[in-house]
Amino acid sequence: MSDPRVATVLSYHTRSKHALDRYAAGPGTLDWEAQPKAFRDWQGAAQIVLPREVTVSCITWDALTSPRAPLPLNIQNLGSLLRLCVGLTAWKEYSGSRWSLRAHPSSGNLHPTETWLIAAKVDGLENGLYHYQNQHHYLERRAWGNDAQATGVWLGFSSIHWREAWKYGERAFRYCQLDMGHVLAAVSYAAALHGWKSRLLSMDAATTARCLGLERIADFEGVEAEEAEVILMLEADANGVPCSWEEWAGKPSLLDARPLYQWPIIEEIAVATRGAVPVSPIQPPAATRLQDENDISAAQVILKRRSAQAFDGVSVMPRAVFKRILSSLLPGGSPAWDLWTTAARVHPVLLVHRVEGVAPGVYVLPRNGATHESLRAAFRETFIWQAADSELPLYQLIAARAGKTARTLSCHQDIATQCAVTFMMVAEFAQPIAADPVAYRHLHWEAGMLGHVITLEAEAAGWRGTGIGCFFDDAVHEVLGIKDDSFQVIYHYAVGMALDDPRISTLPAYE
Ligand SMILES: Cc1cc2nc3c(=O)[nH]c(=O)nc-3n(C[C@H](O)[C@H](O)[C@H](O)COP(=O)(O)O)c2cc1C
Repeated sequence: MSDPRVATVLSYHTRSKHALDRYAAGPGTLDWEAQPKAFRDWQGAAQIVLPREVTVSCITWDALTSPRAPLPLNIQNLGSLLRLCVGLTAWKEYSGSRWSLRAHPSSGNLHPTETWLIAAKVDGLENGLYHYQNQHHYLERRAWGNDAQATGVWLGFSSIHWREAWKYGERAFRYCQLDMGHVLAAVSYAAALHGWKSRLLSMDAATTARCLGLERIADFEGVEAEEAEVILMLEADANGVPCSWEEWAGKPSLLDARPLYQWPIIEEIAVATRGAVPVSPIQPPAATRLQDENDISAAQVILKRRSAQAFDGVSVMPRAVFKRILSSLLPGGSPAWDLWTTAARVHPVLLVHRVEGVAPGVYVLPRNGATHESLRAAFRETFIWQAADSELPLYQLIAARAGKTARTLSCHQDIATQCAVTFMMVAEFAQPIAADPVAYRHLHWEAGMLGHVITLEAEAAGWRGTGIGCFFDDAVHEVLGIKDDSFQVIYHYAVGMALDDPRISTLPAYE
């Protein structure tokens, strides 16, 4: 008997597509003054101020993945880690408006992802479940009282869909999942710097929700719910994550007192895609991280990461930077792929506009040798599949100046043509979803992780990336010749030389 959840996923995906003549259903009007709050407080929960110092600032970008002893599990190092993956990195100010940026990007800067921390026998922190409050860099103690034997730290994540749905309507679930992918990649880099071997736990959705206290319906009465996503082990012994708490404190704050719209399909797709993260054995690496003697501080790269709002449209990316970015997308090429060990199922198609020694055109980087032939079968027959690099699995599909196409496909956004390269993340789709509808989330996580890796590698080399969640799905499929849902595009990413807006001033993240 066919699984009705699969039909829900396929139908949601189709319905949430943008097309050249029709955008997915979203709010007709936006009241910018009534944007849901970017930060949630747990009123009544004890606050534990975290140290702000980054304890790993001497590690260079090039030494990021060099073997290092794990730093002690204490409140100083946890404060440092959280700053480098989910903390604020700056406040921006322009013409009376003020907004904050974080270590990871987010669609519309709406930040649906909430961070949880479970601590057991951590120096300077009582055992318990904590909510991380990014605005002030403190923890809110949500639960305690557990006599488990474990020692360690786990991070948990949940999504508040309304933060994205408020602006983006039905397509918002996709953005929450892409954001989740960015966060996971951000954690992988921060953990590597602290010498911690982060690992995702394969836990079903109900257990994840219970572990993070998200199934306590009464606590969420009258405020926006949080959807459990995943728990990962940062560093722990083998005794397992403590999840049963005796005492609870706090009430989550309301983010939007007057929601103007409702998007019930978001709840439907969330329910249909609940499931466990597949934790497969680590794949043999297809690449090792390229070394290039970049002695910039890795923490500095992370803290100065921004999305470009505009690119200069002329700078030519050196081939070495291009190759470095591409090799980091292959298994083994970035700490992200030590955390995300499932066989690669998302494959970048590149529209190369300006890269030294690389002819403008459409290229593909199959990240998994096994998928090469199925991509070839799914794509346009006239593509030439000419090997374009002696070291990377990069193939030219067609030589062309594709700047205008990139802009059109990316909802007419200039960033897609003014950058040096536009990436279009093409996911193996129908088969993984038929096997388990939870894959719909995980494919988006993988795409978000790819985006994050691109962004950090670009930033380290003086270039910059920007996520592009707005693209015309089937128009991309048309260009690539994809005729069914065996593959689907799920994210775009632009990378180029950023133009800064001098009118916007930058203020420190934490005074
Ligand atoms: C999933 C996702 C989709 C995005 N889509 C777009 C987009 O279509 N166009 C755009 O200009 N920026 C896009 N962005 C960039 C965000 O606007 C940006 O991350 C946000 O404003 C926060 O700024 P920061 O990344 O500099 O911290 C996207 C980011 C993410 C993570």
